Amino acid sequence: MSKHAGPAALALHVNGVVHQLAVPPEASLLAVLRNDLGLNGPKYGCGLGQCGACTVLVDGVAARACVIPVGGMAGRAITTLEGLGDRNRPHPVQQAFIDAQAAQCGYCLNGMIMMAAALLAERPRPTEADIRRALSGNLCRCGTHVEIVEAVLRAADLLSASGGSQSAPAAAIAHPAET
Ligand code: FES
Ligand code: FES
Repeated sequence: MSKHAGPAALALHVNGVVHQLAVPPEASLLAVLRNDLGLNGPKYGCGLGQCGACTVLVDGVAARACVIPVGGMAGRAITTLEGLGDRNRPHPVQQAFIDAQAAQCGYCLNGMIMMAAALLAERPRPTEADIRRALSGNLCRCGTHVEIVEAVLRAADLLSASGGSQSAPAAAIAHPAET
């Protein structure tokens, strides 16, 4: 949280729940999600909008929570990794990443999964080139890129097989500055 301003009242809509908070408006959305709401799916990587580890959906658009001041998020619908699914009922994208064993350390996977969910909502049958393009701004220091691409292709199959009934929230890919 910032040390430059005091807390202000804010109603934050996260994963379908409205949270009444008192937080500094310039605090990052990521800090509030993790520190105030205990949602640790989004990760702190670079803190500069450059690695994608902190990706969430804001009104269905993939966005980098580390560079978004929370004060502008009133009334916006925020979806985190926890809002896609959980251990007992994983979202098809999450299941596909498990099936493809697409993690080594796993630190990048929040961003990879959220971007994949956004891509598949926009383009249910992406090509490998589409996937590589969509994920090109998400960094993986472990180098599991091949498995990650396989996981997204598998996620497209799973979503297709389910008739889209478990599809991700309406989502799109956009540069963080657009949110
Ligand atoms: S932590 Fe947000 S883009 Fe790196
Ligand atoms: S699996 Fe370690 S950073 Fe991607």
